[in-house]
Amino acid sequence: MLLHLKNILTNDELKTARSLLGDQAAWIDGRHSAGTQAQTRKNNEQLTQDSEAARALQAMVLGAIQRDPLFFSAALPRKVFNPLFNRYSGNSNAYGAHVDGAVLHSKSSQQWVRTDISCTLFLSDPDSYDGGELVVKDTFSDQRIKLPAGDMVIYPGTSVHRVEPVTRGARVASFFWVESMVRSDEHRRLLFDLDMNLLALRQQHGETPETTALTGTYHNLLRLWADT
Ligand code: NI
Repeated sequence: MLLHLKNILTNDELKTARSLLGDQAAWIDGRHSAGTQAQTRKNNEQLTQDSEAARALQAMVLGAIQRDPLFFSAALPRKVFNPLFNRYSGNSNAYGAHVDGAVLHSKSSQQWVRTDISCTLFLSDPDSYDGGELVVKDTFSDQRIKLPAGDMVIYPGTSVHRVEPVTRGARVASFFWVESMVRSDEHRRLLFDLDMNLLALRQQHGETPETTALTGTYHNLLRLWADT
């Protein structure tokens, strides 16, 4: 399931993020953190993880996703990889087609995280750069994604994806992975659809015996499929 989540960051948070991610930030060659397959494809810059700015930014993004009910319903997170930050500009401007590693080690939490869901949180105004679309291979077609600053896309960690060359300006984003309580993308989609439709039914008709029963169905399915 590929889902666009709007306004994950507030305008104030975006301002703070941009000021911490300017030219003065500790950008390093993104290939440092790439696996063997990705190394040949990856050509961007990444923020070092151990600076004060990186820690402040990580806390900001983690706080922001935790207050978003749609993120919770869609991702059903068990573990979240510490958010990372990248920049595509100048000669370091693209990331060719690749798949993310299935399990990754998070430096800050010292945990292995299974990458069920990939997340990209856009931080640059889309008018400020050309190119830089995140292209996710879907069953029938490629999804080309370039979102307003502060918005986030989540997509299955199993997808082949790439970032198109940035030909003007700079594309700055946060990216990270979620290990979900529900491993299967198909199961997560069923739960999300049920949850969203229950929400709409409740808004239209209030609580009815049917919404109560279907809420029970939601939780019983979650109980069947969730690992905590
Ligand atoms: Ni990737």
